[in-house]
Amino acid sequence: MVEVLLLALGMDCSFRIWVLGKEVCFVGRWLEVSKLFELAKGVHPVPIAIYGPEGCGKTTLVRYVVRRLGSRNYVAIYIDALASDLRDALEVWGLDLEDLIEVLMRDLGFSLPSMVSKLVARIVEEVLARLRFFGRGLFLAVDDVYKAIGLENVDRYTKMLYEWIAWRAPRYGIENLLIVLTTSEGVSKRILARHTYVEIYTLWNLDPAGFAELVEQLDPRRRPEDLYIVTGGNPRLAIELARYGWDVEKVKKLYSERIRSTLRMASIDRDRIRALVEDPDTDPQTAAKLEELGLMIELFRNASLSPIPTDRDLGVGKEWAWQTPLHRNIVAEILRETS
Ligand SMILES: Nc1ncnc2c1ncn2[C@@H]1O[C@H](COP(=O)(O)OP(=O)(O)OP(=O)(O)O)[C@@H](O)[C@H]1O
Ligand SMILES: [Mg+2]
Repeated sequence: MVEVLLLALGMDCSFRIWVLGKEVCFVGRWLEVSKLFELAKGVHPVPIAIYGPEGCGKTTLVRYVVRRLGSRNYVAIYIDALASDLRDALEVWGLDLEDLIEVLMRDLGFSLPSMVSKLVARIVEEVLARLRFFGRGLFLAVDDVYKAIGLENVDRYTKMLYEWIAWRAPRYGIENLLIVLTTSEGVSKRILARHTYVEIYTLWNLDPAGFAELVEQLDPRRRPEDLYIVTGGNPRLAIELARYGWDVEKVKKLYSERIRSTLRMASIDRDRIRALVEDPDTDPQTAAKLEELGLMIELFRNASLSPIPTDRDLGVGKEWAWQTPLHRNIVAEILRETS
């Protein structure tokens, strides 16, 4: 596969992303892309949920895979569940989008987030009606779905997709099928973890090589190693740093305000948080509370799309990690100030 080879070599410039007024080539992720290609072979019997730190690259990865599978023997669809306009929300490869959008608009109107579950079902039906699926595949990615439909609907919605795969898909003779949902929302992941009708895969930040490729494109004068210590390879945080002229203190201050306020509102024992700063695995109950606040994240190492380093200096334990090293450092500083 050409693209996997390109990624193994570093990056794929046939897929570019607008970042701070310039185009950046897609970097790293060859392992993750290969795994998703594998999962998309045959009918994958359950939807998969990709869970990872905020800004680690979930959206970018699924859009990349949509583009790649869409240029093969797949109809590949990306749905941004949070978009308010159907045209912005949909990216379809392998069939005529205009025609599809016309039908959907007639039926559903514009109010996307509230209608996303209905929309997905309708899209799938419309796509299948247009295509003879024998020998073709369907790859469907619904991004940020649980933020759009609300946590109270996580079970019901995911089960509906599972049942669709089990009961409806065979009728159309689909040979290759994968439905991917993304979330960076800890509570939704915990709800899903209770069920067998969905598989959860972790996506981690970029590895040092992929991260270096990104930094090189953002500013070749920067030393990626120095930035990796701050970001843990999180691409959005690297971009934030670039936006503020690589002034770590400035970005730290911005994040501090928010984290300070979050911690103030939550009544969590300071000593327990302090223990987690030292070792993310010491106290899963408190770590789970911090996950709900967007500060920590549970790692599903056995079902990870990416290799996850264990590095306590970066705040990454075996089962739990801080969102990024910067988050951990800020929390440590806040604790020092208030002790
Ligand atoms: N593989 C990549 N190659 C190049 N740039 C990337 C890559 N992955 C992510 N980025 C950059 O990092 C930014 C953040 O990534 P992205 O929006 O995909 O993260 P996310 O995990 O979907 O975030 P959220 O949790 O907010 O949904 C992107 O806008 C993109 O600019
Ligand atoms: Mg996203």
